[in-house]
Amino acid sequence: MNKQRILIESNAADLARKGAKIFSRAAKKSIGVRGRFVVAISGGSTPRGMHRLLGKEPFLSDIQWDKTDVFWVDERFVPVNDKASNYGTAKKDFLNRVPIPDGNIHPMPVASSPEVGALLYQQELMNYFEPEGDEFSLFDLISLGIGTDGHTASLFPGQSSLNEREKWVLSVKGGKPNTIRLTMTYPVLNSGRQIVFLASGKEKAGIVKKALQANKSRLPAQLIQPVKGTLLWLLDREAASLLEG
Ligand code: 6PG
Repeated sequence: MNKQRILIESNAADLARKGAKIFSRAAKKSIGVRGRFVVAISGGSTPRGMHRLLGKEPFLSDIQWDKTDVFWVDERFVPVNDKASNYGTAKKDFLNRVPIPDGNIHPMPVASSPEVGALLYQQELMNYFEPEGDEFSLFDLISLGIGTDGHTASLFPGQSSLNEREKWVLSVKGGKPNTIRLTMTYPVLNSGRQIVFLASGKEKAGIVKKALQANKSRLPAQLIQPVKGTLLWLLDREAASLLEG
């Protein structure tokens, strides 16, 4: 595995601030080098503190939103105004508050069938990145969460999606809420330049320990192994409380 780092913040608020700083630094660096910042974000509750900060100063003005493209690692197959929608939640948390052009926002399609939605998003990603060869870097930054069962994005334990090596986006069913979802797969997620797991709270302590310190388990989160990029676990003290050493 490439460089894997662990960073422990005191609490959820500090974790959110650190996450926002990482986001803003990655934006500066990517725009400096390639002229754009391409990020994939997660749903769930953990990234919401970070997302809300992105819509406020200093991040609001620090980030060149017109050169930023936002994608999602996964989405619940519900309309945008459903409270389970990751896109809808991100809109409320920061996308409606920042000067990002509509064309830079790339929600997963939930209008047709899940299978068609998955194909459409895969096509959108391929048109956007135009990857060449076997080894490519796609996203500048991917932020992920981890569930207490070890899932990440909507890649759930025991499901065949874990073995997918060709398709970039799949429709699956699972999680909380237990709905049909669209999810990116490992070929896309592992070609991130920088991947950050965010985990907060004591209910995540057991699974964080397992993901980081149990070599024999094969949790979905442990299959996040960036081909060329870096991997950071950004934890708060409670989530890190069972780590040894
Ligand atoms: C989703 C997510 C999912 C999430 C984890 C952790 O859409 O549900 O992308 O993978 O990150 O379930 O969720 P919490 O942050 O709510 O604990």
